[in-house]
Amino acid sequence: MKSARFENSYVIGVISVVLILGSLAECRVPSSIKLNNFDYPAINCRKHSAVLTDFGAVGDGKTLNTKAFNAAITNLSQYANDGGAQLIVPPGKWLTGSFNLTSHFTLFLQKDAVILGSQDESEWPQLLVLPSYGRGRDAPAGRFSSLIFGTNLTDVIITGDNGTIDGQGSYWWDKFHKKQLTLTRPYMIEIMYSDQIQISNLTLINSPTWFVHPIYSSNIIINGLTILAPVDSPNTDGINPDSCTNVRIEDNFIVSGDDCIAIKSGWDEYGIKVGMPSQQIIIRRLTCISPDSAMVALGSEMSGGIQDVRIEDVTAINTESAIRIKSAVGRGAFVKDIFVKGMDLNTMKYVFWMTGSYGDHPDNGFDPNALPKISGINYRDVTAKNVTIAGKLEGISNDPFTGICVSNVTIEMSAHKKKLPWNCTDISGVTSNVVPKPCELLQEKEIECPFPTDKLAIENVQFKTCNFQSSVF
Ligand SMILES: *[C@@H]1O[C@H](CO)[C@@H](O)[C@H](O)[C@H]1NC(C)=O
Ligand SMILES: *[C@@H]1O[C@H](CO)[C@@H](O)[C@H](O)[C@H]1NC(C)=O
Ligand SMILES: *[C@@H]1O[C@H](CO)[C@@H](O)[C@H](O)[C@H]1NC(C)=O
Ligand SMILES: *[C@@H]1O[C@H](CO)[C@@H](O)[C@H](O)[C@H]1NC(C)=O
Ligand SMILES: *[C@@H]1O[C@H](CO)[C@@H](O)[C@H](O)[C@H]1NC(C)=O
Ligand SMILES: *[C@@H]1O[C@H](CO)[C@@H](O)[C@H](O)[C@H]1NC(C)=O
Ligand SMILES: *[C@@H]1O[C@H](CO)[C@@H](O)[C@H](O)[C@H]1NC(C)=O
Ligand SMILES: *[C@@H]1O[C@H](CO)[C@@H](O)[C@H](O)[C@H]1NC(C)=O
Repeated sequence: MKSARFENSYVIGVISVVLILGSLAECRVPSSIKLNNFDYPAINCRKHSAVLTDFGAVGDGKTLNTKAFNAAITNLSQYANDGGAQLIVPPGKWLTGSFNLTSHFTLFLQKDAVILGSQDESEWPQLLVLPSYGRGRDAPAGRFSSLIFGTNLTDVIITGDNGTIDGQGSYWWDKFHKKQLTLTRPYMIEIMYSDQIQISNLTLINSPTWFVHPIYSSNIIINGLTILAPVDSPNTDGINPDSCTNVRIEDNFIVSGDDCIAIKSGWDEYGIKVGMPSQQIIIRRLTCISPDSAMVALGSEMSGGIQDVRIEDVTAINTESAIRIKSAVGRGAFVKDIFVKGMDLNTMKYVFWMTGSYGDHPDNGFDPNALPKISGINYRDVTAKNVTIAGKLEGISNDPFTGICVSNVTIEMSAHKKKLPWNCTDISGVTSNVVPKPCELLQEKEIECPFPTDKLAIENVQFKTCNFQSSVF
């Protein structure tokens, strides 16, 4: 499409000049709105650009734009091997059903751009269940495609100037509570079988179920997200890396009705068969509020294994627990080499919580001999206030959780504290400089629990400064 070109010097200056130019441009290209140039950080920049309105979208909050999103992304997919393309979502309320992303592509939401998830089920295509889960989480049959979905992609970015994606989840939460779901609810964003993913600088609200779900993917950066859902909304986990490798999650603020972050890798015999671990994951500078769930959960679906997870400088205010490891007989696999350093915690039931009897099986086909191996779990430099129980560490009777290390921890118990601050069964490990005094199964030893000093490959990925220029299409 042709677009009015104008000199940069015209753009600089008082707003009225920009407005006049904007309306002139609109006269010449009636189907398009005129946007100012801007810069933004991303792992990759794009040669081609388009604005959602080029494809007939209407931002009135009522018109369905599913066709416009699909047409825009189909059109821009032709540039995958020619420098890639970015789609700009301008200010407005853009109602849409599920749509699919493409490779070498950036979806950019400007400030005051709001993508609204449709509450019309016919706008949500169905997908098969995830192979590592064997069934849907809400219902055994298939599942709805996520609002923003991508599979088998390379180099895909969803970012913005803090634009909003609103899943309008109340419709789905009601159906869940009334047990009317015949398919599993859609996630807000799901990217499968993909490499090089960035999801950043957005506000995500009211997802039908989990917000951000990368699965069977690698080289992922998720940062600068504000994720908000009512604290009583069902299964609104914030960020769930699932069978993913090399993941960097930083500077996120999450208020939700379920775990703020949950690292997963598949469910019982289905997860064991797929056998894809979640590994090389760093989580930094997270703030979490979730009164009935964990700041970071590992599991309960962990049947592909979870290893090399690093969690640093995190804050929880009013959660049920800080880091929670959840597993069960039948899960198999392992959770190992987990390193946590620097937690600032206020108001929670359990600071340290491990559960070997989580149960919750997809069906009766699980193998009772598939015991999870939980080992090498390290926590240091923790301060906590207003805590009911310092630690509940519960292994499995013929399968103890081993190599637990806890050092430099100060926990102030609440007025409602339980008589026993620690309760440990079927675990072993060491402890140093911890108040209140830990259970006997954690032996006193002069030690500083380890935290890796090397960097994960994903930590070395730098953002480039990319730009949008309204005259280059
Ligand atoms: C889609 O791409 C083609 C180039 O292949 C271009 O000519 C066309 O104008 C684009 N469609 C829209 C609506 O921009
Ligand atoms: C999106 O991708 C899924 C899975 O490949 C497919 O089933 C669905 O039809 C696609 N949707 C569109 C609108 O192309
Ligand atoms: C996507 O990748 C997976 C795993 O490599 C493969 O099994 C599947 O067939 C691919 N799907 C498509 C649509 O290419
Ligand atoms: C983004 O928007 C949310 C919701 O309005 C706000 O809480 C947050 O502070 C904003 N983030 C930035 C970086 O401006
Ligand atoms: C996100 O926003 C922050 C503050 O607005 C900015 O400093 C940062 O560069 C942005 N990062 C990305 C990856 O968009
Ligand atoms: C102990 O942890 C606190 C944070 O809770 C930290 O400020 C302090 O430096 C740590 N002490 C040592 C010796 O590492
Ligand atoms: C302490 O925790 C209780 C819940 O156990 C909560 O009701 C109370 O407001 C908290 N007090 C402070 C000072 O945060
Ligand atoms: C300690 O934990 C075990 C295992 O979960 C439980 O059976 C027991 O009742 C707990 N003891 C106390 C005093 O809470």
